[in-house]
Amino acid sequence: MNEDEERELIVAAREGRDYAIAPYSGFRVGAALRSSGGETFRGCNVENASYGLTMCAERVALYSALAKGVRDFDAVAVVTEADPPSSPCGPCRQLLWEYCGDIEVVMASVQSKETVRQRLSELLPNPFELKGEETS
Ligand code: THU
Repeated sequence: MNEDEERELIVAAREGRDYAIAPYSGFRVGAALRSSGGETFRGCNVENASYGLTMCAERVALYSALAKGVRDFDAVAVVTEADPPSSPCGPCRQLLWEYCGDIEVVMASVQSKETVRQRLSELLPNPFELKGEETS
């Protein structure tokens, strides 16, 4: 992913964040997942009254892509108001690892220009994998 593509992915994640439904935490999150073919899938967090059913922005983006049959990914951008930028939660790291592999994770904040980039393998070292099982 080049610089322009990264900027576009962050813009897409910011747009996703506009749709965040976060009345309980007040913490609005946007995500954008980039496929190897250059398509972008946006997501936002969706909270609900039984808090535990909350869905993170990263997973909304991932499931949106998977539901369209897209299975190859390059990068994900996550935008919040946190400064320094916040990183994906543990469950999202696991899901992203399983379906996207070692993608680039770009973290940005609406409060600052600082951008943090890490490979998913840095964020989730020694991940759980069912050896010999394929997700098909
Ligand atoms: N959240 C995300 O959308 N992604 C993450 O990686 C971490 C947390 C959401 C869940 C909840 O709606 C709010 O942020 C506060 O935890």
